[in-house]
Amino acid sequence: MKALVYQGPGQKDWIEKEKPGIEKPTDVIVRITRTTICGTDLHILKGDVPAVTPGRTLGHEGVGVVEAVGEAVANFKPGDAVLISCVTSCGRCANCKRQLYAHCDDGGWILGHKIDGTQAEYVRIPHGDISLYLLPEGVDEEALVMLSDIMPTGMEIGVQAGHVKPGDTIAIVGAGPVGMSVLLTAQFYSPGRIIMIDMDAARLELAQQFGATDLVQVGAEDVVARVLEMTGGRGVDVAIEAVGIPATFDICQKIVSAGGNIANVGVHGKPVQLHIEELWIKNINISMGLVCTNTTPMLIKTLQSGKVDPARLVTHRFALGEILQAYEVFGNAAREKAMKVILTA
Ligand SMILES: NC(=O)c1ccc[n+]([C@@H]2O[C@H](COP(=O)([O-])OP(=O)(O)OC[C@H]3O[C@@H](n4cnc5c(N)ncnc54)[C@H](O)[C@@H]3O)[C@@H](O)[C@H]2O)c1
Ligand SMILES: [Zn+2]
Ligand SMILES: [Zn+2]
Repeated sequence: MKALVYQGPGQKDWIEKEKPGIEKPTDVIVRITRTTICGTDLHILKGDVPAVTPGRTLGHEGVGVVEAVGEAVANFKPGDAVLISCVTSCGRCANCKRQLYAHCDDGGWILGHKIDGTQAEYVRIPHGDISLYLLPEGVDEEALVMLSDIMPTGMEIGVQAGHVKPGDTIAIVGAGPVGMSVLLTAQFYSPGRIIMIDMDAARLELAQQFGATDLVQVGAEDVVARVLEMTGGRGVDVAIEAVGIPATFDICQKIVSAGGNIANVGVHGKPVQLHIEELWIKNINISMGLVCTNTTPMLIKTLQSGKVDPARLVTHRFALGEILQAYEVFGNAAREKAMKVILTA
C-alpha cells in the first residue's frame, strides 16, 4: 500500500509500505476513504516532536471502511464505515475509567506519532471497539473527518474547559482550524459576543461567516486595548488561546475579566510568563490539556441533527495520491487561503 512517511526533519515521502495486519485481538484494520492534514503534522515535519521517528506514517484523522477485525472485537465487522478518533483508548485502565482517554495507559495520541497513522491506504487501530465510531447514515463524510480531532479539541479544551455560558463575551485567539472549531462549538452555548483575534484578514473574514461578532486583527491594532475598549474596560468572560505561543497566551491573561476563564488549547514549546501579580486578585481559572475525545458521540449527534456544519472548514480537496501537493497547500495556508484539506482515496 501507499503511505505518507516521515523521513526525518523537513523530509516526507509518499512511498510503498507493507499493509498493516492484525497484531492484537483488539485491533481493527481500516481502509482509509478520507483523511486530512493537521497543524500537528507540520510540527512533526519540522522535527518538533522527537517521539516521531523516521519511517513513521503520519496522520491521526480520517474515516474509512473496516477491512479486518481481531477476534476480541465485538462492535465492528468488515464492511462497517467508521470514524477514527485521534485518541486511542483501551476503555479499561484507571485513566480511561475516569474518561481521561488522552492518558490511556495503552493509548492516548499514538496514531501518526508512536504508531503508523491515517495518511495511508490502510491503518491499524488498536482497541478498535473504543477508538472507532460507526458512521451514522446520511452524514457528510467530510464533516465527520473534522470530528477526529479539531472539533472535540475545540469543544473540550476550549469551550467546556473555558465554561462558556449563555450571554458571555468570549475571545478566541487564533483563527486556524482549531480556533474555528472553538468558534463553531462555542455557539452551542449561545455566547453574546464572540471576538476573533488573528493576523490573517482572510481567516478573520471566514470567522465572521461562521458566527464571530467582532474581529480584531493582530498587527493592525493594539489587540489588548481594542478588546478592553469593546468590553467597557471589563475584559472577556472567557479568553481561549488557540495558537500556542507566549504572545497569544499573554493576550489572554491581559483581556480576561474578573471571574473569567483562560482556556489554553495551543500546544506550547516555550515557557510563558504568568502575570500572577495581576491575576491573583481577579478570581480567574486557567485550564489546559490534551483532547480526550469524550465529546465525539455528542458531536456526531449535532452533525446528524444539522446543528453544526464543520464541512465548511474544508477549503481544498485532493486525491489521496496527491498528498504531497496537499501538504504544499496546507503548509502555506495563508498564501493559499487554506483551512482544512480533504484527501479522498
Ligand atoms: N490541546 C490539544 O489537545 C490540541 C489538539 C489539536 C491542536 N492543538 C493546538 O492548537 C493550536 C492551533 O491549531 P491549528 O491547527 O488551528 O493551528 P494553525 O497554525 O493552523 O492556526 C493558528 C492561527 O493562529 C494565528 N496566529 C499566529 N500567530 C498569531 C499571533 N501572534 N496572534 C494572533 N494569531 C496568531 C495564525 O494566523 C493562524 O490562523 C496549535 O498549537 C495546535 O498544536 C491542541
Ligand atoms: Zn491534529
Ligand atoms: Zn485506557
